[in-house]
Amino acid sequence: MQYKKATIVIENISNLVTLKGPNRARRSDEMSEVGLIKDGIVAVEDDKIIFVGQDHLPQNIRITSETITIDASNKLVTPGLIDSHTHLVYGGSREHEIYNKLKGTKYLDIMQAGGGIYYTVEMTKKASFKELYKKAERSLNRMMEFGVTTVEAKSGYGLDDFETELKQLKVIKELNDNHPVDIVATFLAAHAIPERYKNNSDTFVEIIITEMIPYVSEKGLAKFCDVFCEEGVFSVEQSRKILTAAKDWGLIPKIHVDELEPLGGAELAAEIGCISADHLVGASEKGLKMMAEKGVIATLLPTTTFFLQSEKYADARKMIEYGIPVALSTDYNPGSSPTENLQLVMSFGVIKLKMSPQEIISSVTINAAASLGLENKIGSLEEGKNADIVIFDVPNLEYLIYHFGVNHTDTVIKNGVVVYS
Ligand code: NIG
Ligand code: FE
Repeated sequence: MQYKKATIVIENISNLVTLKGPNRARRSDEMSEVGLIKDGIVAVEDDKIIFVGQDHLPQNIRITSETITIDASNKLVTPGLIDSHTHLVYGGSREHEIYNKLKGTKYLDIMQAGGGIYYTVEMTKKASFKELYKKAERSLNRMMEFGVTTVEAKSGYGLDDFETELKQLKVIKELNDNHPVDIVATFLAAHAIPERYKNNSDTFVEIIITEMIPYVSEKGLAKFCDVFCEEGVFSVEQSRKILTAAKDWGLIPKIHVDELEPLGGAELAAEIGCISADHLVGASEKGLKMMAEKGVIATLLPTTTFFLQSEKYADARKMIEYGIPVALSTDYNPGSSPTENLQLVMSFGVIKLKMSPQEIISSVTINAAASLGLENKIGSLEEGKNADIVIFDVPNLEYLIYHFGVNHTDTVIKNGVVVYS
């Protein structure tokens, strides 16, 4: 018999949510099938999962004096959570905007008056690499404490100042090299029309296509390319051009669409074959049907809707009914969702998007993994997958989401190493 030596064993798990199933985004009823095991047990060897089951380990898995054994009675164990849409790296903060919010000034109006994203662009330009690194590291630590083991992070606070865009991408790369949490980079120079291109935004689009995208692709600085497609920001036509060029250069397209108004962004995401379309509060019926057909993942960001004080949330129920795989994320950023707390987002997913706890956990594990093209490595607890595991100090999945606003994390294991407990 071929023996394996367990480096970590988590035993007596009251509720083990494995997400066992096909390595692809789950849709419709599949989102409710979470592979729940009572009295579960998980074994890890180095950075990989070697066993997931009930009660006991099989005979070929050996416990040695070096094995870390963790008792998870009365606890919940899930795959490491994945925050698949964040603006992790930026300078300054925007708490002064709270007074505009109190007056009812709209997000885009704050931005058009030179605040919002433009303010953060100035602060990010001014910040040194080290300052940006330290600030992002602090947020990344917080995310990890909430049970997050993989994060997507975007540039987008340099715009036409390419040096600042690259500074953000390099911070992401260095954090990914040094921090236990894995970070996947997205290039988002198309986050706002820069001041000096206000009257000729097509020129900026050309610069993104001919100069920036080729450089980012050749240097391997990002896996994805994103655009903020919204009324008064980038049009559908401009977004199409940018994302088509990105595809040609081997960057996978993602898109911020229909966050505030229906503009035809969902339709565009389907037409281009984006891996995900994010926000989608105002997405049209036609756009959603096209997304379902193409298998575009809908990444929903309910704390953004909350923070923008909007009444209308994305129609998650309809999306699930249409067969669109849904992911949930924080959208962590200084203006529309200043929170690193993915557990809070999960609670909002239930209360505001009317998703079930089972759909919620699918959306922050396997579906979030698929939205980052990482479904073969992470997103479920199965033999051969990376040992990214969270133990929550709650008796069951429902409790995790129901008792909201506090941190339920007990232990975080990343690539087979206990990184938080
Ligand atoms: O996803 N919509 C554009 N981007 C972010 C907000 C960024 C900011 O306000 O700094 C979002 O909401
Ligand atoms: Fe965003």
